[in-house]
Amino acid sequence: MLMGNFLRNRKSIRDFKRNKVEFEKLEEIMGDLKALNEEESLGNFKLRLYENGANIMEALMGKGGYAGVMIEAPHYIALDFLDDYDSTMIYGAYSMEKLITILNAKGLATCWVSLENLDYAFKQDVFGEATNDIKYLLAFGYQKPQPPFSEAPYSAKLGIEDFVFDEEVEKEIAMEKLETMGLKDLFYYIRFAPSTKNLQPWRFILKDTSIELAIAYEEWNRAFLMDAGVIMYYFEELAKYQGINNKWLLIDGDVYEGKKLKYKTLAVYQL
Ligand SMILES: Cc1cc2nc3c(=O)[nH]c(=O)nc-3n(C[C@H](O)[C@H](O)[C@H](O)COP(=O)(O)O)c2cc1C
Repeated sequence: MLMGNFLRNRKSIRDFKRNKVEFEKLEEIMGDLKALNEEESLGNFKLRLYENGANIMEALMGKGGYAGVMIEAPHYIALDFLDDYDSTMIYGAYSMEKLITILNAKGLATCWVSLENLDYAFKQDVFGEATNDIKYLLAFGYQKPQPPFSEAPYSAKLGIEDFVFDEEVEKEIAMEKLETMGLKDLFYYIRFAPSTKNLQPWRFILKDTSIELAIAYEEWNRAFLMDAGVIMYYFEELAKYQGINNKWLLIDGDVYEGKKLKYKTLAVYQL
């Protein structure tokens, strides 16, 4: 597959057909979840399938999703955090994106749904007592066909110069340098990654032999850890097209003060 195809067509779908996904496909997905859950993981989380989306939708109407706007779908996969470490959120999000790749390959569309601010007892009621702390869902199913000639608009994305820095935060990088390093395409396509409220808070600081991942923020919010996990996954996948097969390492990073924003470094990738 071309690097471009991997991310360019990826977008959040919020209109699903009511039809359920075929039984055989759901069985396959159960197997995929089992494999992801058993994978040697750096985070302590579990992905759980809820086949009967109508029950979840009914319970979470007005409560789940951005400002209570719940996404209606025939099925959901819940991301259940089994502890409260940052690394669990980061790798939970990483694993969910891996799952999105698998679902997309089966012709299925997806959308992340945030479940912030729901109280514990309520969530136990909805998702069952075996669960611990479900903070996110993935709505999935078949996309509703778009009316002819109406192109679903892509959400606005930052330019490379806005999120890739040279050596230090807010120092602009020359495109020729990215090209020489063989990273220009990677950064072009990584812009299509999903993020909480489309804030695209990730920043990359290029050093001599490594890249640091930072999150840009005015006020820190732990939801940014999810965006970090998402972008780590995409970076690793896109880097493979360049023949680089490394993995991000989490670091106990620093906070830098920029002109308007602060930057917290979270992970490093050796080139
Ligand atoms: C961790 C996370 C949580 C999200 N939560 C929601 C949500 O609750 N409701 C929603 O409509 N979209 C949600 N999204 C989808 C983003 O809004 C979407 O990725 C962003 O607007 C960019 O659009 P795109 O995915 O089409 O590129 C979430 C995305 C992420 C990564």
